[in-house]
Amino acid sequence: MVQTKDIETVFHEQLAGITDQELRDMTVQVWVDACEQGNWDSIEEVKKIPFTLLTPSRGIGLIEHTIAVTEGAAGLAEAQIDACDKLPYEIDMDLLIAGGLLHDVGKLLEIEKDPEDRYRRSRSGRCARHPISGAILAAKAGLPDEVINIVACHAKEGEGRPQVVETVLVHQADFATFDPLVMLEKGTLIR
Ligand SMILES: [Fe+2]
Repeated sequence: MVQTKDIETVFHEQLAGITDQELRDMTVQVWVDACEQGNWDSIEEVKKIPFTLLTPSRGIGLIEHTIAVTEGAAGLAEAQIDACDKLPYEIDMDLLIAGGLLHDVGKLLEIEKDPEDRYRRSRSGRCARHPISGAILAAKAGLPDEVINIVACHAKEGEGRPQVVETVLVHQADFATFDPLVMLEKGTLIR
């Protein structure tokens, strides 16, 4: 079983950026619950899950991707805060980090292993993509509405929908990691 301390260990640098202890604990708990619900038995197993099934992930795992997106979104936020004298909106780093860590947590339900040990979309994932299942998990754990918005609206489900600014930043960081892989596959990434 994946334990609280496993999740605290893999995400310890990002979790340290959440000042609200309750928010930090709820974020960790959602990961623990999702691992249990998705039948992922150990953190080693979770580390091997590819971050996407939509294009070859070329060895990039869900945990690595989650860290890259969270750090990327935080970097986008810090760059704006540092560069602009009067930013016309506030960015809440606690909510941004919690949302970054949780944006793809629904993939623990969306992805499963087939009998040949390959990864495939689960029945649950066909019924509800990860932004929906992730938002349900986060809501059940008591995460605030803004974090639900980040999880629910970070991908195509959020296109054209009202979003908190933290969702915009997580979305951009997410696609900054996804688009190059798609382009590699299509042969349109210049190297
Ligand atoms: Fe993602």
